[in-house]
Amino acid sequence: MKGRFPWWPDWQRKKMAYAFSSQKQMDIDRFNAICAGTGLPNIHQKSTFKFKDVADGAARFLGHSPSGEKPYARIYTRLGNPNTEYLEKVLFQLECDHIIDKALEADEKQPSIASLVFASGMAAITMVLMGFVKPGDCIVVGNVYGCTDSFMRFLQNRFGVKIVFIDATKTEEVEQAIRKNPDTVAVFIESPDNPTLQLCDIEGISAITTPEEIMLIVDNTFCSPYLQQPFRLGADVVVHSLTKFVNGHSTSIAGAALGPFEFFSQYVYPVYKDFGPTPSPFDSWLNSLTIQEMGIRMEHQCKTAQRLAEFLEKHPKVKRVWYPGLQSHPHHALAMQQMRNGGAVISFELNGGFDAGVSLMNFFARTDTPMELAVSLGSVISYIEHPASMTHAVVPEADRLERGITDSLVRLSVGVEGFSTLAHALDNGLQLS
Ligand SMILES: Cc1ncc(COP(=O)(O)O)c(C=O)c1O
Repeated sequence: MKGRFPWWPDWQRKKMAYAFSSQKQMDIDRFNAICAGTGLPNIHQKSTFKFKDVADGAARFLGHSPSGEKPYARIYTRLGNPNTEYLEKVLFQLECDHIIDKALEADEKQPSIASLVFASGMAAITMVLMGFVKPGDCIVVGNVYGCTDSFMRFLQNRFGVKIVFIDATKTEEVEQAIRKNPDTVAVFIESPDNPTLQLCDIEGISAITTPEEIMLIVDNTFCSPYLQQPFRLGADVVVHSLTKFVNGHSTSIAGAALGPFEFFSQYVYPVYKDFGPTPSPFDSWLNSLTIQEMGIRMEHQCKTAQRLAEFLEKHPKVKRVWYPGLQSHPHHALAMQQMRNGGAVISFELNGGFDAGVSLMNFFARTDTPMELAVSLGSVISYIEHPASMTHAVVPEADRLERGITDSLVRLSVGVEGFSTLAHALDNGLQLS
């Protein structure tokens, strides 16, 4: 339905003028320099901030920021905190560096894109959607993480929001779903998706959603801004679980959402303020520290993942490998356009079926192996897991199989241990399976 967002034409103008980019990723040195950052604040482990006087307090409640800090970031930590503000700025620069430069050149008075950090990736996703969808609206959803999937069903069952699940790796399915559902307000996708690492054509989908005034929301968790910057491809909102690559050490849970400033001030910030999905100052400080070497970590992890995927593809105990960096991957060409490289997550199917999967998992459950049997990803530690019995156990079996999540599929998140160590361990585990 056109006309639902009065700010849409201005956002589209900014998107076309500043956000779209033929260069799909930022220069790596620039990326690392932003990550390293300067001015990391001390930890403001505080719930409240003292005002100078009544006029100062009143001005801050009106959103004024006398020293140029983020509005509301020096009142009460549920509304904002200097440590969270710092992390928001770094994430904003990583996703939007090219937009900032162009907007500054054009003398734009208002920031085009807002950045908010949350207590978890799920908090970021749920707040973005809770803020603006209403009964009768439709959301078209691709293959998504289990809790995102169940939250969509909650919106449907509890609030009468229509949820249409499709295979968004097929752009024509997005087009058909929107045509059949004129009340579509958002398309929500992950690319690559979890766990079969198939890609959505973000630019192709954006060409469909943009003229229809439909928000294209991209969960960029599997890539982080290091591998993919969805605003350059036409996304309207980008969400992250910072728990993964941004933290990179499995020491905290956090999330982020970035999107049109007008959209955030009208719909997202009010629920952020009232629902209270705020991260702790310490977690924001920790993530501001760990993000400093994210590019370096990821470069190493992705190079190792590419070599391991090639190694697994030749292994006699392995039936099929899903890794966007392999030529055999169905979306390899798209991956090479959208992503810096194939990423640090590999999925593979074993010849020996479910029992072989259990045996391999139990091998890595031992403490003398260089991986952990655990379900997260993006850490310096390699994690191996079995989607059918773990992360995707809640997905109905028929849906699971249709998405290629067979009983013998294994997902591996590659850490920094290095190729020879991991290949040797995988070979040992596979011999037993
Ligand atoms: C793609 C994706 N999005 C969102 C989330 C949720 O993030 P969090 O666990 O930080 O709430 C996850 C968690 O695994 C994920 O894999």
